[in-house]
Amino acid sequence: MLEKIQETTKYIQQKIDFEPQIGIVLGTGLGGLTKEIETIATLPYKEIPNFPESTVKGHEGKLIFGRLGGKNVVAMQGRFHYYEGYTMQEVTFPIRVMKFLGIKLLMLSNAAGGVNPNYEIGDLMIIRDHINLMGNNPLLGKNHTGLGPRFPDMSEAYDKTIIRHAAKIARHNGIKFQEGVYAAVTGPTFETPAEYKYIHILGADAVGMSTVPEAIVARHMELPCFAVSVISDLGVEGKIVEISHEEVIDAASMAEPKMTLMVREMIEKIKL
Ligand code: HPA
Repeated sequence: MLEKIQETTKYIQQKIDFEPQIGIVLGTGLGGLTKEIETIATLPYKEIPNFPESTVKGHEGKLIFGRLGGKNVVAMQGRFHYYEGYTMQEVTFPIRVMKFLGIKLLMLSNAAGGVNPNYEIGDLMIIRDHINLMGNNPLLGKNHTGLGPRFPDMSEAYDKTIIRHAAKIARHNGIKFQEGVYAAVTGPTFETPAEYKYIHILGADAVGMSTVPEAIVARHMELPCFAVSVISDLGVEGKIVEISHEEVIDAASMAEPKMTLMVREMIEKIKL
């Protein structure tokens, strides 16, 4: 795996003379942030050696290199999901590559179902912690000590200082936000009412099908992580309605300007 990461990193560096400081992963319906990036170069995933190819509607599949809030960023427009059939190592491969390209901070976003009864559709939830319910882990198998330790610490998977920074910026801009626990499931089915209830009882505030593998791999490499969910539907007793992927995209798109504003200002004001 190490050779593959190095090969991909070298390919990108030969194509693009640019060192990103921050890596951003844009979730379902949240691609709007790319319009704010002063783009220097883009690379479709299908042109990048060792990269898997995205298959989901709403995930276009390219790396965008450019300037945002006065910093060098690389953004993943579209991510790889476990439910698409990729291995956990494939899902998280781009995170490894971004780290090798030089990023000092990873910012993840996603659309998620709210299971906390106080949540509303369109809320932003800053992820404070997670519960991995995927029944898999990207670090299973032989450990490469060159990448990180066999038993990585997860006591602060999401950087507390960066969470405070985000909360301050949200408050300053009058953006309503929640802070909560994200549970990751494999999907691709949305949850049954009993499953939403179970996930809430376990201690989660929102549920989704991504982010956790990427955060795990980032922490393995000691890369600080920040993640935010847009609540696109509710898995709360009495409020559960039939949902579709299109509705998730639409709800996330509606909340997208708030998330974009917060992320852009966070990047602008953060000291790396
Ligand atoms: N469940 C799981 N994943 C999701 C949901 C949900 O309700 N909404 C968006 N992603």
